[in-house]
Amino acid sequence: MRARDRVLSGMRPTGKLHLGNYLGALDNWVRMQDDYECFYFVANWHALTTGASSAAEIPGNTIEMAADWLGAGLQPERSTLFIQSLVPEHAELHLLFSMITPQSWLERVPTYKEMVEQLGLESPSYGLLGYPLLQSADILMYKPKWVPVGVDQVPHVELAREVARRFNSVFGEVFPEPGVKLTEIPKVPGTDGRKMSKSYDNAIYLSDSPEVITAKVRPMVTDPARKRRSDPGNPDICPVFDLHKIFTPPADREWAATGCRTAGIGCLDCKAKLLEHLLPPLATIRERRQQFAEKPEDIVDILREGSKRAREVAKTTMEDVRRAAAIEP
Ligand code: TRP
Ligand code: SF4
Repeated sequence: MRARDRVLSGMRPTGKLHLGNYLGALDNWVRMQDDYECFYFVANWHALTTGASSAAEIPGNTIEMAADWLGAGLQPERSTLFIQSLVPEHAELHLLFSMITPQSWLERVPTYKEMVEQLGLESPSYGLLGYPLLQSADILMYKPKWVPVGVDQVPHVELAREVARRFNSVFGEVFPEPGVKLTEIPKVPGTDGRKMSKSYDNAIYLSDSPEVITAKVRPMVTDPARKRRSDPGNPDICPVFDLHKIFTPPADREWAATGCRTAGIGCLDCKAKLLEHLLPPLATIRERRQQFAEKPEDIVDILREGSKRAREVAKTTMEDVRRAAAIEP
């Protein structure tokens, strides 16, 4: 069998994942296991770039997130699941990259400016500026063919490509340039109709029970023009229908759209139909997640084992790097 192409991606440990995280990234990671040699990691150093004062939450958040990974179907026998800080070679490579990367490259990365503005940071840290360069080290360390990410991360992968070129021209050929595998991100509204987000308190979590999900979907925002059961509605502007588009097969979706437009069904009927299609796949994930979450020490073992495997790869890369950038007598 030909060696499979390698992919690498990571997530910051923000705690339990919601449906938006699942559909925007995790689901894709799971499917890629069929065709690629996958490396997925918890970017716990990256979590410090804006949240160093909440560092104490990182271990728990790591376990919650990894439970979701495993629940969703990432398999440690097939994929290397690891923790960034348990592969300290990332830090060494980041340091070397920092010597050949103009500060201006980092200052013009759009996410940096956004973070500084959004969080109103008066004196952003050196680490925040270096965020995408650490990410370049995360990526290039594994010489992946592809980096599966959403569109917001594309500038970071672009930077990794530039850094690879610069390194190769300064020290000699070590790093192939990775490509972006763009993850199609469907529109996932939260229960208030805004984008699903932890900070809006409008999210459906992979760890939510069917009862909790039902209680969240029932009062969900709909087309505001449908005040009464007899008012026709417009599914095209309804967040409930956005979820139908993701979970409901065509025949039932058509039933909902027509029923909405003709006031043939009420919003509660429409939501009940959505739940019929939403609950079963989520129940599968949740049950598997539960089994892992009950034994957090097993999750830690999985991540430690994965980190050992990742470290073997990282050591090999660092041998090449040290040979190229030979600075010791
Ligand atoms: N910056 C990424 C995010 O916020 C997380 C990340 C860190 C990452 N290192 C990476 C993603 C390397 C892909 C590859 O989602
Ligand atoms: Fe939305 Fe369905 Fe109500 Fe129409 S019937 S407004 S699609 S919830």
